[in-house]
Amino acid sequence: MKPGQKFLEKIPPVCRQIARVVEEWGGSAYLVGGLVRDLLLKPAQFDITAPDWDIAVDLRATGQGLLSLLKKINAQTNCRYVFYNQFLTGTLLFGDLRVDIAHTRDESYPAPAVLPLVRPAGIEQDLRRRDFTINALALTLTGKGKGEVVDPTGGQQDLQLRLVRIIHPNSFIDDPTRIFRCIRFAIRLGFEIESGTLYLLRAAVKNGYPARLTPERILYELRCICRERAALKMLEAVVKEGVLASCWQQVPGAEFFGFPVKRLLAELQKLVQAKVDSGLLFVYLLSRLPVNTRFPITREEREAQQILRESKVIVSRLRRVRKKSAIYRQLVGIPVPALQVLKILTTGVVRQRLRLYLEKLVSVQPQLQAADLISAGIKPGPELGRMLERLRAARLDGQVKTTAQEWALVQRIRGKNV
Ligand code: CTP
Repeated sequence: MKPGQKFLEKIPPVCRQIARVVEEWGGSAYLVGGLVRDLLLKPAQFDITAPDWDIAVDLRATGQGLLSLLKKINAQTNCRYVFYNQFLTGTLLFGDLRVDIAHTRDESYPAPAVLPLVRPAGIEQDLRRRDFTINALALTLTGKGKGEVVDPTGGQQDLQLRLVRIIHPNSFIDDPTRIFRCIRFAIRLGFEIESGTLYLLRAAVKNGYPARLTPERILYELRCICRERAALKMLEAVVKEGVLASCWQQVPGAEFFGFPVKRLLAELQKLVQAKVDSGLLFVYLLSRLPVNTRFPITREEREAQQILRESKVIVSRLRRVRKKSAIYRQLVGIPVPALQVLKILTTGVVRQRLRLYLEKLVSVQPQLQAADLISAGIKPGPELGRMLERLRAARLDGQVKTTAQEWALVQRIRGKNV
């Protein structure tokens, strides 16, 4: 039996359905990308319930296009689909399952680091234009070769040798995101970077090719790294190899954009040890990078990274305040991700106060609500807002514990103001 034959019986039915349609049309379909790598590397541990599947189809001999295939599967299954004409790719969405389909293609790069121009080609050419030999493997889903592995670049051998190796010498120049990817795969899989590949990776970094990437692409790679189990090791390697410095045309050294590398790595380690989620790790990293206003990050991420940059001010204020209401006033409105990061990176009384705020104070509310106060004759507007804040402060500091005590406080304040 061919190596992948048994596996084919287990792939999601929809992948088999796609293959069946392509086969009926006289074309070819293949499973491609990291799934094939992982399957060949550890067949027993392969996650058959993976949510993302990559399929490449060669429709050149069929007189049909990728869009017709997407429409046909949509008609048969009622799935959702998206088609990207320019890139000859599409996505089928079946609830939680996502199948990316691409026409097998050849690529050319009009200039370093820009997105490639693509034209239809066969599976071998398609695999040869990819990043690493271990990612240039395909499992045939159609025709006589069903179950066979297509491996034009020696990917299976590199899986055995445990090496990450680029396929052609210009790989990192054409697509500098592969510098990040190379480090990510080597560390995730516990592989070595093949010596020629490492030489070319370092040369591309030294010659400043990462700086040609758009911020979107740099940040995408960083988000991918932050999601990895071995994120710390990967970030350490990315920093030590000077990849991030190179993205901003800086020479790597003991300082990382004005912050000591040693401290950066120690703080990253603290965050990882505290098992923060990938979003927090990413926000911390942003705070250490020269991110500008055009960067594609969410408003919360932008605010959080600014807060973290100016964390000295918050820390020194927090040291001084004691009352719970004062702690609350210092911290209210600051994005929670920034405070969660700060809580991990600080110590002593500052840390305690951050914890108190995040675990308790942030959710303290007076019993009386705006509607209650309005019905008691307080006009909507600044007075109402101030009253609610006074009530919250009194709750925080334990001065009122019941609704009756809150009403009494309202009366006292109003009495004073008359
Ligand atoms: N690819 C490439 N160059 C890139 C990005 C992707 O050649 N810059 C190719 C590789 O063949 C890769 C495939 O596209 O295997 C799919 O990309 P992606 O989903 O990012 O990689 P996976 O290998 O599937 O990674 P993961 O295991 O993290 O899902």
